[in-house]
Amino acid sequence: MNDTPRSPGSGAHPGQAATNPDIAALNDAAIGLTPTLESRLAAVMNVARYHGVEMNPETLRLRRDEPASPPVSIEWLREAGLWARGAPLNFRQLMKIDDPAPIVLLLDDGGAALVVGRNREQQVLLLRDPRSPRSEPAVPVDELRLKQVWSGGTLLARATRGGVEDEPPFNFALIARMVWTDKKILRDIAIASVTITILSIIPILIVMRTIGTVIQYHSVATLELVTVLLIVAVFFEMLLSWGRKLLEVVMAAKLDARLNLMIFDRLLALPIEFFEREQAGVLSYKISQVYKVRQFLTGRLMNTFIDMFMVALLLPLLFYMDATLAWTILIAAAMIASIIGVFLRPMGAMTSRIIAAESAKNSVMVESVYGIRTVKALALEPTRAADWDRKVAHTADLNIRASQLANWPATLVMPLQRYSQYGVMILGSYIALNSNNPVDAGTLFGFMMLGGRVAGPLVSLAGVMEHVQEAQAAVYQVASVLNRPNERRALTHGLRPRFEGAIEFDDVTFRYEGTKTPALDRMSFKIPAGTMLGLVGRSGSGKSTVTRLLQGINRDYSGAIKIDGNDMREINLRHLRKNFGMVLQDNFLFRGSVRENILAGRPGLSFEDAVQAARLAGAEEFIERLPQGYDTFIQEGSPNLSGGQKQRLAIARAIVSDPRVLILDEATSALDPESEALVNANLLRIASGRTMVIVSHRLSSLIDCDLIMVLDHGRTMDIGTHHELVERCAIYRHLWLQQNRHLDPEGNAYAKPAPALNPGE
Ligand SMILES: Nc1ncnc2c1ncn2[C@@H]1O[C@H](COP(=O)(O)OP(=O)(O)OP(=O)(O)O)[C@@H](O)[C@H]1O
Ligand SMILES: [Mg+2]
Repeated sequence: MNDTPRSPGSGAHPGQAATNPDIAALNDAAIGLTPTLESRLAAVMNVARYHGVEMNPETLRLRRDEPASPPVSIEWLREAGLWARGAPLNFRQLMKIDDPAPIVLLLDDGGAALVVGRNREQQVLLLRDPRSPRSEPAVPVDELRLKQVWSGGTLLARATRGGVEDEPPFNFALIARMVWTDKKILRDIAIASVTITILSIIPILIVMRTIGTVIQYHSVATLELVTVLLIVAVFFEMLLSWGRKLLEVVMAAKLDARLNLMIFDRLLALPIEFFEREQAGVLSYKISQVYKVRQFLTGRLMNTFIDMFMVALLLPLLFYMDATLAWTILIAAAMIASIIGVFLRPMGAMTSRIIAAESAKNSVMVESVYGIRTVKALALEPTRAADWDRKVAHTADLNIRASQLANWPATLVMPLQRYSQYGVMILGSYIALNSNNPVDAGTLFGFMMLGGRVAGPLVSLAGVMEHVQEAQAAVYQVASVLNRPNERRALTHGLRPRFEGAIEFDDVTFRYEGTKTPALDRMSFKIPAGTMLGLVGRSGSGKSTVTRLLQGINRDYSGAIKIDGNDMREINLRHLRKNFGMVLQDNFLFRGSVRENILAGRPGLSFEDAVQAARLAGAEEFIERLPQGYDTFIQEGSPNLSGGQKQRLAIARAIVSDPRVLILDEATSALDPESEALVNANLLRIASGRTMVIVSHRLSSLIDCDLIMVLDHGRTMDIGTHHELVERCAIYRHLWLQQNRHLDPEGNAYAKPAPALNPGE
């Protein structure tokens, strides 16, 4: 229908929409998008489809009036479970890419074009307008024409290899592979090492060969020549050593960065359950052990390899010079190695004990700092200090014993080590005196200088075994954390439906790990979308557990939980949590401004969203009274905010992304009556258009709920409105009367409490 090639991505093509399935979906979802936004969205959907992901534009955050900025487009792709990154590229780089996957070009006018191929002979890229039907041929565009509409903004995307099966376990092999990625640096280090070795041997050989001549014939000229040669050799050795050190440092830094990225990524993929069970102190100590592995690989192990070059070069030379002496050196080295070998096992056992003691010590520290309020409030400082003292003494004791143990092999091998330096001299001299083919002074001198250089590395090879054990223990520590089953698969796979908010529990039974009685016992209930559901029940009846299962925190329950009819287990976990807001009794606010805390780094949200959320949460009033309003900085632990203010910020943070389901677990319990009334007054407004699950001990704040569910011992006792429950549910009536008897001395259970605390109503 369009026979002249046009600039890709500009102008709308309303007539073509129906022929492209992406556009069909798009039109349903996003009527009234600007053409450029539509073009970017279509481009992203095209790419996602190429990688096998059907995106649902209805679930995306679309700001109709604004162009999709690169971060927003990237977020779309990531939300679809793809790996995505923005990069500035140029025409030539685009031409070089071999991957047939389409690439999104972010055009200057705010639209997008897809690179679908390249013609290298004619130096043109084949571009497609993402909104044009698939049957339409791609448009060849050369560098000059592309430059007029595009200045380098590019989106790269590929399917992630997520999933537990694909993730290699954390072990030595994995780290070794990481080291191996720097093949080139390794090669350069090896070359430098060989050269340095040769350079350091040459002077010895020269001196060895010439020392006789110089002394015998008083040859000053020879001495001068040797001096110059030595200086040159030393100079080059210096230069190369400097270069090698630099390479080593670069490699260590790269490896460090890679390890750190991977570790943090894996750590965050672990389920919350895991963090709840493990002590933070022990956890962070274990993770921090990874530096030992790195140190070992790039320090000790590398040096040993380098030393082995030396041995490989020198050993034949020694045998050539004098086989008997060479053998004695080898035997001495072997004896040294076996002495160290004997001590390996006890030292290894000691290392494990030290690690255990250190992590115990560490957890006392972390716990005390973390719970310092409680420590101070209960005047627990002396107890904590005593505990700390004991742990410190224990580790110190173990460390001393370990050093004592390590001292033994070090002492025992010393004479053998010295033999390879001085002993050979004496032995050599004896051999020289008692045989008829005398060993000359040069050879003896050579043995003295070189013998140590062979024995040293051989000894350190044995010593490396000890460090291998230590590194292995460290790998084990890290692996014990990172190789747990994680949520990665659930976070990257699964359905990404548009939520309405209907929730159904079907015969759900759940037991916490290590407990006998189920926290939820064959629970079944069903609420339609948009319901405001209150959960009540005695402490420990399973209210929080219900909210945890809804968030996918605990996943090994039996029965089925369905959201809008979809089984929870099939839904992408990140998608689920993004669409579910959660406010707890005690919420963590991050260091940063009020505005940053409300937006919490979620892309596609603007300041206006933050203000609106704050207003809805009843937080606007106090934020505006803060010294810098929305830019007021919140410190760690937020000491500059009251409990009620924190809580309202947390609510604002939860509703800023307009979640379909909002869960409040005792969100208002810690508040003073006035703040509570303020939040409660806003609840109805907050609830409009979404499903709410509210857990509260104060029944008066649940009166307005559409449905209230009464739990007892993990079972649903009853579900109904306040009036129904007061009439027919004994537990509910009991709780209600307990809390509200003072309001109604005649025992009229149906009465609402005085609305005095609801100024917003
Ligand atoms: N992490 C956990 N590990 C083991 N058992 C747990 C865990 N969390 C809760 N439980 C147990 O599960 C049961 C239900 O706990 P839940 O936290 O759901 O109760 P709740 O109704 O929220 O109580 P409360 O009103 O005190 O908050 C309790 O018996 C509790 O001991
Ligand atoms: Mg609870």
